[in-house]
Amino acid sequence: MVFSIVEHFRLSPWASEKITEYEKLFKYFGIKPFTEVLSKLAQITEPHMLMRRGIVFGHRDFEKVIEALKERKRFAILTGLMPSGKMHFGHKMVIDQVIYYQKLGAEIFIVIADAEAYAVRRLDRKEIINTAINEYIANYLALGLETHRLHVYFQTNYKREYYRLIQLFSRKVTMAELKAIYGEDLEPGKIMAIFTQLADILHPELPEFGGFKTVLVPVGADQDPHLRLARDVADRYSELGFERPAATYHKLMTGLDGGKMSSSRPESYIALTDPPELASRKILRSLTGGRATAREQRELGGQPEKCPVFEMLSYHLIEDDNELMRIYDECKSGRLLCGECKLRTREMLVKFLEKHQERLEKVKDLAKQIVKQPNF
Ligand code: TRP
Ligand code: SF4
Repeated sequence: MVFSIVEHFRLSPWASEKITEYEKLFKYFGIKPFTEVLSKLAQITEPHMLMRRGIVFGHRDFEKVIEALKERKRFAILTGLMPSGKMHFGHKMVIDQVIYYQKLGAEIFIVIADAEAYAVRRLDRKEIINTAINEYIANYLALGLETHRLHVYFQTNYKREYYRLIQLFSRKVTMAELKAIYGEDLEPGKIMAIFTQLADILHPELPEFGGFKTVLVPVGADQDPHLRLARDVADRYSELGFERPAATYHKLMTGLDGGKMSSSRPESYIALTDPPELASRKILRSLTGGRATAREQRELGGQPEKCPVFEMLSYHLIEDDNELMRIYDECKSGRLLCGECKLRTREMLVKFLEKHQERLEKVKDLAKQIVKQPNF
């Protein structure tokens, strides 16, 4: 029975372990390989480096976005952030894509998941608000997010039409369905977070928010359960004008210690606000895809495909595909050893952080101005 296989492999948006088997997402959940749409996108505009490199690995209905681009139709991007801990490089991919689409003319909606952080993660409310503005939104602006056609909102402090969707959608979803998607341990807080996220994903389609017919939700692969449900719910409310949102999925970064890159383990990540000296130490201490001895590595070559240092290069630090390929080849052939490779990476990382942090200082005030803060 197909169902029992799916039982075995359930994606959880709240799990702490790393997703390793992306192919299963194609097989069991119907996510399509992004490679299928890459060349079509390339006919219109240069695909983002995360797309070219297979880091954005999957999609649902991305053809809709291609069509909107081709026919110059309005389209919207909706994505969200969990305001907990520091913003690190694992959080950066989503905003890099948002900026890419903003440059292509998209209207941008960014939700701060403060209701979810409060109910599911049980974080302190003041800290959530502070983290959202000073860590996330400020860093987004420093990375190049522009304020035109941009809507940033807190889940607990938005317009009333958005809240009506939460009740509306709850009418046509059953408990059995939720359990099939999210598993058995569903607490009330999680159920609230699920319906709030449905409202996030579908609200740009409401006339009050622009009535967008093409909405794309770029997310980490762990968020797919919400997308699946949102697309089903859109079908159930087609008479109200809802359409299925499109989605893209990117891989999640490996932590420097080999686990999931996670805000709860500082040694697993480099934050965008880490002082360059600290970031240097972290990258030099990182796990690699290298062999046990230098001799062995010269003979067998390294394994960049499972190397957190190489991920830093390919996800973030090197724009030029040829330059990245050169490092890949040097590593594979055993000509490049990890010590040297880490020193090069460190240099790029420090340069990046210094520039970024300079920009960050300049946009801190702006971050406070562009989003209406909850005052309770
Ligand atoms: N649940 C997401 C997270 O854990 C945050 C989020 C809330 C979100 N609403 C969203 C993401 C809508 C994408 C789209 O990070
Ligand atoms: Fe990773 Fe570089 Fe070592 Fe290759 S040489 S395994 S890319 S650190």
